[in-house]
Amino acid sequence: MIWTLPIEFETRIDRLLGEHNLSLSKTTKLADAILELSDFYIHEPGKPTPWHRHGTIAAHLAYYFPLNYIRSLGLVHEAKKVGFLDDSDELVDFGAGLSPLIAASGLTSSYCVEQGERCEDIFKRLVPKANTKWHSEIETVKRHKRHILCLSYSLNELTEIPEWLYSFERVIIMEPSDRISGRKLLEMRQKFIEKGFYIWAPCTHQLECPLLKESKTDWCHTREFWNMPLWFQKIENHLPMKNRTLTYSYLMVSRTPPGKKISDHARLTGDLLKEKGKSRQLFCRSDKREFLAWLSRDGEAPEWKRGELVKIIGTPKVVGNEIRTSEISLIEQLFFH
Ligand SMILES: C[S@@+](CC[C@H](N)C(=O)[O-])C[C@H]1O[C@@H](n2cnc3c(N)ncnc32)[C@H](O)[C@@H]1O
Repeated sequence: MIWTLPIEFETRIDRLLGEHNLSLSKTTKLADAILELSDFYIHEPGKPTPWHRHGTIAAHLAYYFPLNYIRSLGLVHEAKKVGFLDDSDELVDFGAGLSPLIAASGLTSSYCVEQGERCEDIFKRLVPKANTKWHSEIETVKRHKRHILCLSYSLNELTEIPEWLYSFERVIIMEPSDRISGRKLLEMRQKFIEKGFYIWAPCTHQLECPLLKESKTDWCHTREFWNMPLWFQKIENHLPMKNRTLTYSYLMVSRTPPGKKISDHARLTGDLLKEKGKSRQLFCRSDKREFLAWLSRDGEAPEWKRGELVKIIGTPKVVGNEIRTSEISLIEQLFFH
C-alpha cells in the first residue's frame, strides 16, 4: 500500500502557518523550526513537548503531523486487518498533540488527552469533521469497553511506564523505530503478557519475543511507503533527516485473545536481504528467530514488504533457522468479523 496525505491538509496547514507569519513556501524557516524541535526530542527524552516555544507548532504542522498521519494510516489499516479495531470503537489518544492518529483513523467520536494548551484549537481547524472531546488528564477519561487507549510517540515523554496504562481493555502504542525505543517496547510487550493481556499485532503468538530473547541489538519495526508531497520534499531538502519511507515500532494488546486465525500466520519483521546464492527475510511466528529463504537458482524472491502477514502453506524444508519454500502466500486482506 502506498499512502497519500489528503490534499485538504496542504491548504489547512498553510493557513494555520500563516498565523505564525509562516507558510509552506518558507522552507528554510520551517526547516530551522523542525531541526530545533528534533534536537529537543533527541537531547531531552522524558520531557514534554515545549508547545510554548516559538516554532513548535509550525514544526508539528509542517513535519510531525504529516509523518505521523501517514504512519497512523498504516497502523489503523493493520488494526482493522486483524480485527482489533472497528468503526464503533473510540480512541483515547494520550499525548495527542495535533492528533494525527485520530485524524487518520476516520473515527468520528474520540478523546484526546493533552497538556499543550493550543493543540485542541489547532486540531479542530485541521480536522473539522472529528468529534473529539479534550481532556488535560487521563484520570478524567472514563474507562469503557469501546475505548482503545492510544499512545503515538508520547510514551517517550513519560519518565516511567504509568500503571493506568493497564486499566484499559485495549491499548495501541506507536513509538519511534530506534533501537532504544523499539527494545523498550519489546520489554513492555512482556509486561503486558504478565498482566494478562494478549498481543494482537505485530506478533501472531503470545510466546517470548525472539528478538529480545536471541539478540541484544534487534528490535521489531515496520515500514510505510508514501507519496511525499512536493512542498514536503522542498522542506526536507534543508534537513539531514530523510523520510522517503517511514518506519515505526508498534504494539496492539487486549484483555481478550485474538481470533484463532492470527496464529496461522507469520509476520515479516525484516526487509529482504539479497545475499550470494540466496535471499533471506526475517519473519516471526514464535519465540524462534527465523528467516524465509529463497535460493537464487529457484528464481527471484518475491518483493514482500516488512510488516506484512504471510501464511506458510504445507510443510516447507527447514535448514537451521531458514524456511525454504516457494509456497508462501502474502495475506493482504485478513478480516475476522
Ligand atoms: C511527541 S508528541 C506526539 C504528539 C502526537 N501524538 C503525534 O503523534 O504527533 C508527545 C505529546 O505528549 C504530550 N504529553 C506529554 N506528557 C503528557 C502528559 N503527562 N499528559 C498529557 N499529554 C502529555 C505532549 O504535550 C506532546 O503533545
